[in-house]
Amino acid sequence: MNSEKIEIFDTTLRDGEQVPGCKLNTEQKLIIAEKLDELGVDIIEAGFPISSPGDFESVSEISKLVRNAKVCGLTRANKKDIDAAAEALRYAKRPRIHTGIGTSDSHIKYKFNSTRENIIERAAEAVRYAKSYVEDVEFYAEDAGRTDNEYLARVCEAVIKAGATVLNIPDTTGYCLPEEYGQKIKYLRENVKGIEKAVLSCHCHNDLGLATANSISGAINGARQIECTINGLGERAGNTALEEVVMILKQHKDLNLYTDVNSRMLNEMSAMVSDLMGMSVQPNKAIVGANAFAHSSGIHQDGVIKNRETYEIIDPAEVGVNESSIILTARSGRSALAYRFKHIGFDVTKNELDYLYQEFLKIADLKKEVGNDDLALIMDVCSRKIG
Ligand code: KIV
Ligand code: ZN
Repeated sequence: MNSEKIEIFDTTLRDGEQVPGCKLNTEQKLIIAEKLDELGVDIIEAGFPISSPGDFESVSEISKLVRNAKVCGLTRANKKDIDAAAEALRYAKRPRIHTGIGTSDSHIKYKFNSTRENIIERAAEAVRYAKSYVEDVEFYAEDAGRTDNEYLARVCEAVIKAGATVLNIPDTTGYCLPEEYGQKIKYLRENVKGIEKAVLSCHCHNDLGLATANSISGAINGARQIECTINGLGERAGNTALEEVVMILKQHKDLNLYTDVNSRMLNEMSAMVSDLMGMSVQPNKAIVGANAFAHSSGIHQDGVIKNRETYEIIDPAEVGVNESSIILTARSGRSALAYRFKHIGFDVTKNELDYLYQEFLKIADLKKEVGNDDLALIMDVCSRKIG
């Protein structure tokens, strides 16, 4: 069976940048956009042009800069927003307008004080209007995760007729379970007339820690675009993490899905976004966290030293990390200690190791982590004692 491509729609500069404290200036956004283009993402959502003059300028400058990826601007379903996005995207080689409206009963009632029928009309009208500017129009059905499937299918049908090329099905509140979200995508594929003219896209939030699982479930059920951010940044608990999607599809060849992202750049990309946004990455973050390839318990260290694959499913080089690390703590064993001594130039015999290990434990019980300086000291003290 031929492998099929999943388009990666990066929204670090839009959904990711909405996070309190993550605000970037235009210059910083340009640095990230250029790197995302080099990373190989298919679409860069550069911002929400109507939201502020600064965001308008950023989308406009990113449009001039980016060479390969499509550049996308977000709008609500109204003419003013769409006019602003079209203007900001004027210089993009491959512009996309991303317009949409809330479709759940909660959004229809409380946000819009409207009716289901009226929302369908407004959605189709916005797509038609965006289409008067650009060929590539993506429609988002905000809160699709909590929208009744039959109604959602009617919305999708109407916007496809109006010319939408991509249908974004956001789980805006991060409510869905993976099975449920996958079934939603499957339902739309099977029940929307004209669905073959559009690409279904997953945009999942992480309120229950399920964003990546839901996106993958969507892809398994026929979505061919995933919206995600570097380090999983985004509103509240964040969005689907780009690095997780890329590596899941790479590790699970059985899914017959791939992306064009250069995974060897993931670590550096993550560090760059974290530095520029001033948002540190949690150490246990999958793929790009500082501990993602660090081993500290004796049992695991012994296994990894014998063969890395015993406890690692990803070769660190695949994501741009030089090597796995063996962290020395009071839970480490003799083989880890010998390994680290060897690393700093000491080949120790079994008898020497027994002695050194006792000294090591004394220090390890006092500290969180034993470093190379401590090892040199232990070696020095022991050599003097042994003579
Ligand atoms: O989460 C969401 O629904 C969004 C849309 C604006 C695409 O970010
Ligand atoms: Zn979102």
